[in-house]
Parts: sequence; structure tokens; C-alpha cells
Amino acid sequence: MAKLTVNDLDVRGKRVFVRVDYNVPMEERDGQMVINDATRIKETIPTLELLVKKGGKLILAAHLGRPGGKREPSMSLRPVAAKLQELSGLPVSFVDDIIGPKVESAVAGLKDGSILLLENSRFYPEEEANDPAFAEKLARLADVYVNDAFGAAHRAHATTEGIARVIAGRGGKCAAGLLMERELRFLGQELDHPARPFVVILGGAKVSDKIKVIDRLLDKADTILIGGGMTYTFRLALGFKIGKSICEPDRVDVAQAALEKAKARGVKFLLAIDNIVATPVDSGRLNKKGRPVFELRQPRVNDSTNIPDSEEGIDIGPKSIQLFTPIIQQAKTILWNGPMGLFEDPRFAEGTFAIAKAVADATERNGAKSIIGGGDSVKAMNNAGLGGRVTFMSTGGGASLEFLEGQELPGVAALSEK
Ligand code: 3PG
Ligand code: MG
Repeated sequence: MAKLTVNDLDVRGKRVFVRVDYNVPMEERDGQMVINDATRIKETIPTLELLVKKGGKLILAAHLGRPGGKREPSMSLRPVAAKLQELSGLPVSFVDDIIGPKVESAVAGLKDGSILLLENSRFYPEEEANDPAFAEKLARLADVYVNDAFGAAHRAHATTEGIARVIAGRGGKCAAGLLMERELRFLGQELDHPARPFVVILGGAKVSDKIKVIDRLLDKADTILIGGGMTYTFRLALGFKIGKSICEPDRVDVAQAALEKAKARGVKFLLAIDNIVATPVDSGRLNKKGRPVFELRQPRVNDSTNIPDSEEGIDIGPKSIQLFTPIIQQAKTILWNGPMGLFEDPRFAEGTFAIAKAVADATERNGAKSIIGGGDSVKAMNNAGLGGRVTFMSTGGGASLEFLEGQELPGVAALSEK
């Protein structure tokens, strides 16, 4: 059933608790936390503008990082408040707590159309525990609840789920924000009734992360193209040599089952046919987790589906690019989730960037609807300079995967029906 949205709300003079996903990448520079990518902040502005225009008093809540229920100064949302004010041109105030007297007096002072951002909700352990008493305290701050945090909607936390239950329980409205609505439309309805051919491109390291998505998309897609680390588990299932490439031997049966289902359904299921390989050499150093760091030496094209024993596949090769590109360019609906290789290293970025280019081309020249499923693929589109040239890029990582698997997200389930 369709969920209530901010368009349906009358919020004049009301206190509106808006959950946003401002879990943005940050970095310390000269002792200050600086935001590296403000996409998630920008994407909420239409919702905020609408609620401001409607005369609501906005109380924004979000989490940042994983502080583990303690105050962690490097994870304060204060710089985010400044960034939001700069990007939106709306005055944004900040309070360095999420419940308690300071927050209550800041909320009491809100005028119609003004915005207050609360501190990182995960500074309290009750947030992730979805503690009912904590949710009650949050709910006391507001009359109406809006969730625009698609990226956090797979979490049943106090600000994403508990508070909505309390507000709905006392007869208040709980609505989706405009970003949430768009995410649900592009990753949901649009893929349920896709224009054909519907081409799915999947990458990333693990079959285990994506197997549920693969299984579900085998019921919908015309073609599935596989690149990235998960290729090698599929190749192992087909009896090829994978050298030192990443793989999950315990998922070979799952990969096998997906290949058989594809055959039975008449879905074209194509694996990368060649690779850029390199020789991993132990550098003698350890990473932050205490594991040995391997250097990838002598990258070269391996023109075969078999990889020599001493080498590791790190990107798809030129023949795979040639195979995948026209299929993507002729698609009418495209879903892309997961890079083709280690694109952060320029030596292994060509495959991922070629796919990014093909997706942008299909969108512009063939009128395809192109949907980028969040996380690393969005980063890859942006690194390729093509972020603005696709139909939709999800702001969710884990949330978009779970949603694509067909799971009900707790943050969505808690919203009122229309
Ligand atoms: C994310 O970035 O994945 C979301 O903001 C959720 O954060 P989490 O994975 O720490 O719950
Ligand atoms: Mg996550």
C-alpha cells in the first residue's frame, strides 16, 4: 500500500520531527572535521524547503558514524548544520543533545518555518537499542514524524522506527519525505514494471552479499552482467582456474544454483570473459586491522577466463568491456550495483569507468532509465565524472541492497498508509 508523504501533510505551526540520513563521509583537516561528500545533505533539501514553505517547525535528527552509544567529538553533527545552512540558504540552528532540557527549550523557541538540527542520535545507546522510553522522549518533542532517511531505513532504531510507532500510536501522522519517496519509486515500482530490455549489472566482492538480489532479479531482468570480485566464485562454479583471486568457495553451490535458475528462466547471465590481473606480493607491512598488506605488482591483461596460479584478477578486461558495452547501450532499463574492479586504484579503474560511461550513454542516447543502486557504484559514477548523467542514484548503501532483496525496511513499515 502507498505511504503517506510530505505532500499530504498540513504542518502549519506544528513540530515536525524529520529523520534524515546525514551519515556523510568526513575527514580531519587541520584539527577540523570536513565533509567530503555532501550528496546526502543536498538530497534532503527539497523536503525541508517544502516543510518550511508549509510553515512547520522542523526538528532534524540523524546519526553519524558508529560512536557506539558514547559522545565522540569527531562524530558531532555540528559541521553538518553549517553545511546544510550553506547549501540550502535556510537558517539552521544546532543543539548539542538529542533529548533533555536543552533540546526542549530549543524546540519551544522554534518559529514556524525554522530548522533545528539535533546532535548525533547514536551518542545514546538507546538509539540503536530502539529503547521504548527513549523513543517516548523523542516523540514528546514533536506532533508529526517525517522520514527522509532512506539510507538508514533498514535500521529499526529509535529515530527511524520507535518514535514513529509512538507518534502513530497517539494518532499523529508519519510520512515519507520526498527523497524517501523517490528512492522507493526508483528501486521499487520502476523495477517492478521495467521497460525492456532490462539489464542488471552487478559487481562487488562477494556473491554472499548479493545472492538474494541476484535471485530476485532473475525473476525480472532480461540480462544480468557480472563483474567484480564475485565473478571468481561463479568461475569456480564453472570449473575455471581463478589463481589468487578473491572468492567464496563455500558459495559455489549458491553460484551454481543462480546459473541454473538463469538458464531455466531464459535470462542471459554473462560473466566477465577476461581480466586485468596482477601479482600480489606481501609488502611486510600490516594494515590497521593487523592483516598483511599485499602490493599488486605488474598489472596486465589476461586474455582468458582462466587465471594463472600466482596472479589475481582485479578488474574486468577489454574483451569484457566490448561484450558488456553494446548490451548496456541497447537497454531501456538499467540497474547497476557494485563496481567491476578495484576502481579506487587508477590501474584497475578502466572496467568500472567504461561501464559507467555505457550507462550514461544509454541514458542520454537510448532514453534508458538508469538506476544506480547506491554505495560504491555511486562513488564510481561520481569519480568518472558522470554522476549527473543517469536517471537516479540511490543515497542508500545497505538499505538499497536490502530493499532490492525485497525486504520490508523497518523505517518504511512504520510510516502511515495514505
Ligand atoms: C549508511 O551509511 O549505511 C547508513 O547511514 C546507515 O549507517 P549504518 O550502516 O552505520 O547503520
Ligand atoms: Mg551501512
